[in-house]
Amino acid sequence: MHKIPVIIDTDPGIDDFFALAVAAASDKLDIRAITPVAGNQTYEKVCRNVENIRQLFRMDGVRIATGAKCPLVSAQRTAGNVHGEDGLGGVILPKAQQKAESTYAWDVIYEEAKRAQGRLQIAALGPLTNIAIAVLKYPDLPSMIDKLFVMGGTNGFGNVSPYAEFNIWADPHAADIVFCCGIKTVNMVGLNLTRQAILDIPEYRRVFSAAGDGPLGKIVTQLIDYLGTRAHGLGNTAMTLHDAIVTAAMSDDKLITYFPSYVRVECQSENAFGQTVVFAGNGNRVLEQGEPNVNVADTLDLERFKSTLSASLEKLKGRVAL
Ligand code: BDR
Ligand code: CA
Repeated sequence: MHKIPVIIDTDPGIDDFFALAVAAASDKLDIRAITPVAGNQTYEKVCRNVENIRQLFRMDGVRIATGAKCPLVSAQRTAGNVHGEDGLGGVILPKAQQKAESTYAWDVIYEEAKRAQGRLQIAALGPLTNIAIAVLKYPDLPSMIDKLFVMGGTNGFGNVSPYAEFNIWADPHAADIVFCCGIKTVNMVGLNLTRQAILDIPEYRRVFSAAGDGPLGKIVTQLIDYLGTRAHGLGNTAMTLHDAIVTAAMSDDKLITYFPSYVRVECQSENAFGQTVVFAGNGNRVLEQGEPNVNVADTLDLERFKSTLSASLEKLKGRVAL
């Protein structure tokens, strides 16, 4: 079996941590590079988290590029209220020996797309700044990418405003460029999908018991307890690990169903800033719209996702580097 060559564009972020765990444990994915991007926290913090996570999961040989430090046009906004001052809820990971390389994310994405000869898949788990710069700099890049999975947007209620989801809202201009650039398969895994995996803390404890009570188990428990406390502080009783669903979906076509739609990002309005405007779907159509450019995630097989999460942690528990 040929593994799928993938790049993970990410802003860790507690759920990004779990997304990287799922990808690192997968037999089906060949992670070629991780491209950090400012999002949940400032660039320096998320990049340090990526370096530490690469070492923790012994992802030797996986490149880390230098990504974008701020959005294309809008003012920078982070999510320290959810992920903490350091982006990982204050959980201390062993300090990485190896730093990111100085090559820029957009150049690494292009290099890896050429190397993968049409098979490259990208998981975008933060604001879409790196990907937008890549497609602007290299106009032939969209045709070289097999699939782009985006954790972002919503076909329903938002999380930073009634209309907007954090990753898209944090750089809406980048998101609109990426949605319209001509990549043949863009899978938008938005909040309407990731909220189908809202679990409470006891349920997470059951799923995460697979990590054991050694070092990985302790890290995982601290992360989830932190997220749980923050969720309660923000008035929620349970939470979801948005980004981990995306890396699980990369190696499992049966996890999510999608419907095709024309999708644009609202960059002008004050109240709906960052909204993903989904023009058609579930039988509804409006007259004025473009050709479908995005597959909008619709339904999740939750039991399948929980099994993947447990199996990934089970696999990693004996192999973390401390
Ligand atoms: C997204 O925003 C970030 O805070 C999470 O890491 C996830 O990528 C959810 O809206
Ligand atoms: Ca993220």
